[in-house]
Amino acid sequence: MSAETVIDSSAAPRHVAVVMDGNGRWAKRRFLPRVAGHKQGLEAVRALIRGCMKHGVECLTIFAFSSENWQRPPDEVSFLMDLFLRALREEVQKLHGNGIRFSAVGDVSVLTEETQKLIRDAESLTRANHQFRLNVAVNYGGRWDLEQAVNRAQLSGDVRTFANHLAFADQPDPDLFIRTGGERRISNFMLWQLAYTELYFTDTLWPDFSEAELAEALKWFATRERRFGKTSDQLRHDSPVTATT
Ligand code: FPP
Repeated sequence: MSAETVIDSSAAPRHVAVVMDGNGRWAKRRFLPRVAGHKQGLEAVRALIRGCMKHGVECLTIFAFSSENWQRPPDEVSFLMDLFLRALREEVQKLHGNGIRFSAVGDVSVLTEETQKLIRDAESLTRANHQFRLNVAVNYGGRWDLEQAVNRAQLSGDVRTFANHLAFADQPDPDLFIRTGGERRISNFMLWQLAYTELYFTDTLWPDFSEAELAEALKWFATRERRFGKTSDQLRHDSPVTATT
């Protein structure tokens, strides 16, 4: 399928969540250091944002750095943090110019002061943008999210409000989850929010994930029948089901 293939945007997922796996292997196959794969991975992120906007997706969440990624070699951790810092410095104006609202999701309190300030500035600059939402998960883990939401709900004195304290509480749950790099697992990403999400796995390594590959995933998504616990017969007689029903 070509990247130009038009997909009916009424069948497009509202929210796409992506685990960008395979950067290290992409680099290794080219006899390059692992970090070269991460650098190329950022190019694929740009193509992903363009593709999602073109196909009518409203919201994209990418897993840039997990709570567990600190265990990687220190050089690689520094490179990833630097890449994120540079992306914040160099890309935020472009995001803003394209009407994109940026949010960082995760425990950012352990990042450098400079990074935290750039995140705050980017979030406040883009807060009123409505064209598209980009969430970058940094030092994020689904279990961390559940724990922090429980703690905050306890502090508020009403644990029934737990879900209101989760990250992404103001956004629809992902309709489509994409994982590249061949593994078939969720790896502690959006554990609560992925409850009814369609899961798409591809062997393509993240830096090779092109607009055409995204179009393929969206085409697959459009074939899915989302039942949310109901039967097919019920769905035929119901009004259209949305992710929030
Ligand atoms: C997993 O591939 C990838 C990551 C842990 C980092 C993802 C980061 C980027 C794509 C950089 C761009 C993002 C931003 C927002 C700056 P891996 O290293 O585990 O690959 P492997 O399984 O082949 O070793």
